[in-house]
Amino acid sequence: MSSIESRIAELRQQINDHNHRYYVLAAPEISDRDYDTLLNELAELEAAHPEFQSEDSPTRRVGGEALSEFTTVAHAVPMISLANSYDLQDIRDFDQRLQKLLAGKPYSYVVEPKVDGVAVSLRYENGKLVQALTRGDGRQGDDITENIRTIASVPLNLRGQVPEVLEVRGEAYMNRKGFLKLNREREEAGLAPFANPRNSAAGSLKLLDSREVAKRPLDAVWYGVGELKGIRFETHRGLLEALKEFGLRTPPLTRDCDDIEKVIQALDENLNARHEYAFEMDGAVVKVNQRALYDELGSTAKSPRWAMAYKYEPEQVETQLLSITVQVGRTGVLTPVAELEPVSVSGTTVSRATLHNWDEIQRKDVREGDTVIIEKAGEIIPAVVKVLTEKRPADARVFPEPHACPVCSQPVSKREEEVAWRCENPTCPAKSLSWTKHFVSRKAMNIDHLGEELIKVLLDAELISDPSDLYQLHQKRDTFLALDRMAEKSVQNVLDALEDSKDNDLWRLIHGLGIPQVGERTAQTLEEHFETLDELASATPENLEEIPDIGPIVAKSIISYFGNPIHQAFIERLREAGLRFTRKQAALQTAESPLTDKTVVLTGTLTQLTRDEAKELLRRLGAKVTGSVSKKTDILIAGEAAGSKLRKAQDLGIEIWSEQDLVNCIPTDPELPEGQLDLFDL
Ligand code: IVH
Repeated sequence: MSSIESRIAELRQQINDHNHRYYVLAAPEISDRDYDTLLNELAELEAAHPEFQSEDSPTRRVGGEALSEFTTVAHAVPMISLANSYDLQDIRDFDQRLQKLLAGKPYSYVVEPKVDGVAVSLRYENGKLVQALTRGDGRQGDDITENIRTIASVPLNLRGQVPEVLEVRGEAYMNRKGFLKLNREREEAGLAPFANPRNSAAGSLKLLDSREVAKRPLDAVWYGVGELKGIRFETHRGLLEALKEFGLRTPPLTRDCDDIEKVIQALDENLNARHEYAFEMDGAVVKVNQRALYDELGSTAKSPRWAMAYKYEPEQVETQLLSITVQVGRTGVLTPVAELEPVSVSGTTVSRATLHNWDEIQRKDVREGDTVIIEKAGEIIPAVVKVLTEKRPADARVFPEPHACPVCSQPVSKREEEVAWRCENPTCPAKSLSWTKHFVSRKAMNIDHLGEELIKVLLDAELISDPSDLYQLHQKRDTFLALDRMAEKSVQNVLDALEDSKDNDLWRLIHGLGIPQVGERTAQTLEEHFETLDELASATPENLEEIPDIGPIVAKSIISYFGNPIHQAFIERLREAGLRFTRKQAALQTAESPLTDKTVVLTGTLTQLTRDEAKELLRRLGAKVTGSVSKKTDILIAGEAAGSKLRKAQDLGIEIWSEQDLVNCIPTDPELPEGQLDLFDL
């Protein structure tokens, strides 16, 4: 072994050990900074020596390439769920049943917290993580291996003496702190916040791009097993201990209980401790400890007879609803909010609670002045559960449906398929910020130097009221310069970036318009079918629905967007500012391209192009870029250190190209208009 190879092996070992100490034993030995130093050294060595790259290196958790869809895989052993109970009597009945079924055989229990997350099954073969599946329908689930790999506490290799096959089952979740942080970021990005940590964990695990998943604060605990080869566990306690030895996190505060009275005591203790856990706990699980009895006890179609879940009701409290106010979200959605007499719920003081929408207000018959019961949905976001009508004062006020936006006073409307009232005024100040942020974002017009803070300053100074005003900024240069802390150079950078953006690809503009339902992909599809923005704007629903991937809902949203006079005026302002309204890829497409209509997958590290540039180039050369290799793939473009995708493509006999092969496809016709060959302009 070379000294570099052995240093790499040593670093991997050290980092895995520190991960284990940090995540599983909760007893870190080194500072975050020292840990990062080790990780950086490893990453640098691996980058310089791609021959020593390895799929299970601790550096390979940042996520791989995006998938086009998840593969469905059958579970080796079905993933069944648990019978639920809400009542301590159910728990006593459960014990009575066991006594009868076991006819005098001794048994005891383990009580564990019930983690409110997403059930996941991991498969380790000879100690190596080979697959992670969702529960799905219990018989088959989605392969989310790439996403699970991004969770730092999930070992890629088990420690110690490993069995041939070990399937572990548990729960992936988002802890409270991570959930609140993610929601703050989502709101800043104009995205709908998740209702609770469970939804946010589920939503994160369903992302097709594991690089995005890597940014989500996910964690997991493991409390059960599926298929086993070369190992057995006598007791559940033994199983938990063995999992821990293998380096897997197990639930905290599990309790051994000799009899049902001890179980009831443990359930009570668990309930009292629930707010101390970093994760959401929606109950406790009571399990027979002696695994040897499991076969004998068997299971019903849905759940095993040797375990039962005891669910806690969310904590509810009574308070006064003082008034109802209305918030305007970034997409213009109006949300009624209950302003409450402050009360303490689940350990925090609550003074506001969402009423979701006007249908909810009507359904629950909520009035200003009412006495209401509130709870924290998913233990985080307070919601009004019901009204105590018997306590309603004579002067309680009905809260009417809105007619106008409370921020800009423009009329509001309700779309057919939606419950929400919306402010459709694109220049509503509450919406301008998010719209402008979206317009300049990397995936839309990609305008540098215009961060959120600067956009806020420009909006506050009334230099802009929507993104079209950005293109008038050069005429207001002096006022712009006079703004707080604006240096000559910064102003020039912004103006230059804006000027450059005028010649962007058409799809970037289409995306930047902010048409509901039209994301980056759809915008690109639309560009392929319409040569100009005006053609798109005058398309009929039939024209649009003819396009693969565009369904009636998207078509309707596009038609409604372009039919709105406010949007028409906005588009005219962009036209006057000189933005490109026509697609420009014709030159590249007409050039002879061996990639026309080919399905292409990119893998490995590219050195001449960024991945986005490569994708853009491929698209403009007429190819379709997908995330995973299958029989339908025509060409695999393999960058440096390509791994499993390359092997799979070789196995399938798929044509393999280098990055240089792709670069060679860029036409070099000197008659092409200037700038078209500049890759960084793509
Ligand atoms: S045992 C065959 N233990 O709650 C029984 N489940 O409502 C396997 N859950 O399906 C489940 N914490 O997804 C078990 N400590 C725990 C759990 C737990 C959360 C989930 C699991 C289960 C669901 C039932």
